[in-house]
Amino acid sequence: MNIIDKFHNWRRKQRWNRQYKSGRWKNLRGDKERGRYKTIIDFINKHGNGNPSVLDLGCGEGILCERMKSESYSEFIGMDFSSESIKQAVEKNLEKAVFKVADLHYFKPEQKYDVIVFNEAFYYVHISEKAKVLQTMMNALNDNGIIINSIYREGAGSWEYFEIDALQQIDFKTVTTSEAKTYWKIGVYKKS
Ligand SMILES: C[S@@+](CC[C@H](N)C(=O)[O-])C[C@H]1O[C@@H](n2cnc3c(N)ncnc32)[C@H](O)[C@@H]1O
Repeated sequence: MNIIDKFHNWRRKQRWNRQYKSGRWKNLRGDKERGRYKTIIDFINKHGNGNPSVLDLGCGEGILCERMKSESYSEFIGMDFSSESIKQAVEKNLEKAVFKVADLHYFKPEQKYDVIVFNEAFYYVHISEKAKVLQTMMNALNDNGIIINSIYREGAGSWEYFEIDALQQIDFKTVTTSEAKTYWKIGVYKKS
């Protein structure tokens, strides 16, 4: 990212912080979004090595972790560049969970994981950094680890990064709702 891109990224972070503080994202807890979290959790349970370590990228206030049974994961690490969302996640005191403030553009995982989730986050990565960020996460996968990508609607400029020889799609679902324009696509990938 050049200096202007970095500035816009910083401004976006301030906006997310304001929105989390004002409760703007409480709608993520609503019924409409329920099927999206459930599908991610079903995919983790189905493809995630039994008792996986999970890294949730762009975790927000930690709803994914909150909805998982604590006995279904060995550890859960959530990261988000909004300090306000991380504060809200930490306050939940979720079992075996650690939440940290970090920016996807610069984040270097300190260990390897069985499951890495781009949880409605990949489209916020700057176009010049998308391939690099995905590669960083591929390098942070344990053997047989999986990457899950959840994207609202068509997610223009996102899916093509996952359509590479180094990755193999092993599962996929479109989660629909009663509203035709509200749906998510969720893909599961392994390293080829
Ligand atoms: C639509 S919200 C989804 C929150 C959460 N994944 C969920 O589904 O409940 C997108 C999240 O991505 C985070 N985000 C956006 N850009 C980011 C970046 N560069 N690094 C880390 N997190 C980022 C936002 O702060 C926000 O929490």
